[in-house]
Amino acid sequence: MINKKIKRLGILTGGGDCPGLNAVIRGVAKPAMNDHGLTIVGIEDGFEGFVEGRMREISRDDIAGIIGEGGTILGTSNKGDPFHYPSEGMNGVEIVDASQRVLKHYKGWGLDALITIGGDGTMHISNKLGDLGMNIVGVPKTIDNDLEATDQTFGFDTALSIATEAIDRLHTTASAHHRVMVIEVMGRYAGWIALEAGLAGGADIILMPEIAFNWESVMRRVIERSTRGNRYSIVCIAEGAKAADEEIVIRETDVKRTDPIRFGGIGEHVGRRITQETGLETRTTILGHLQRGGSPTAYDRVLATRYGTKAVQLAVNGEFGRMVSLRGLNVTSVTIKEAISKQRLVPVDGEIINTARAVGTSFGDE
Ligand code: F6P
Repeated sequence: MINKKIKRLGILTGGGDCPGLNAVIRGVAKPAMNDHGLTIVGIEDGFEGFVEGRMREISRDDIAGIIGEGGTILGTSNKGDPFHYPSEGMNGVEIVDASQRVLKHYKGWGLDALITIGGDGTMHISNKLGDLGMNIVGVPKTIDNDLEATDQTFGFDTALSIATEAIDRLHTTASAHHRVMVIEVMGRYAGWIALEAGLAGGADIILMPEIAFNWESVMRRVIERSTRGNRYSIVCIAEGAKAADEEIVIRETDVKRTDPIRFGGIGEHVGRRITQETGLETRTTILGHLQRGGSPTAYDRVLATRYGTKAVQLAVNGEFGRMVSLRGLNVTSVTIKEAISKQRLVPVDGEIINTARAVGTSFGDE
């Protein structure tokens, strides 16, 4: 079937990269080219490239063999929000509205629709571009898994596997030296990676943004464990976790970023304080971008491919302003407006938290 309505389909990856981006690009491009005869226009480096007018047409060769590759063949950026675009002015960096430049490129390249693959920030921008008249279909990406309108974003499963493996490795060295091992994982304001990797890796303490911890409870648990069995503890901590009487620990703020806040440092803070208060030997690991790099898991490859093919169906059917979404076992779609209305945080009295508590995990709040 050759599609009569749209001929040129743009595709862009926005925000931080995430395992599975290339699988989505392939999942879009194959049916779009083969079943609908569309030309795929790849926008380079996310919205930054869109503002600057950088694109290339995607060929069959470009998408061959990329399903298992990390990163994105298009490049990405978390600094190019067209509505708050950083531009070098007389007084240093000025924030300007560059959305009309994006609209000009969209029209100039003859795009009939655009698939945006990204997280929360990308969906907010997509919603505003839709209001300017662009035909947008969104695909939810992020290792943080913090979009309410989908049961799972692709990339999360890979990050979870990497974090779990890291905790497994820390167990053996922690046990050998009878140390407290603190591991800081990503996730911004959501504790999904810390919770699920901590649970899967058998962490003794999980600290996350949704449950403010108290120091006394953390110290009590590590001291208790230091007198039993192998005399070690594993503390899995989300970068956005905070003590009840303190603020979130931030590495830096950068106005050029879509989200100006760069998290990082809570792991070191907790590790230092454990040593000071208990005298126990402590080591801290910051897992960082290892969680985002490399090959996606089989689950993420499949989910990303399903998202990509669904996004093409929506575009071909003229169902714009929608984001593909996983509900239960099915891939469906929701409006982008609905998708950005709420962040998906860990429910504190939910089943997974209760499961972790049932197997003896401390959340530092007892
Ligand atoms: O949103 C994905 C994410 O990996 C967060 O978990 C993390 O806080 C952030 O991006 C890191 O961003 P950057 O790659 O810009 O340091």
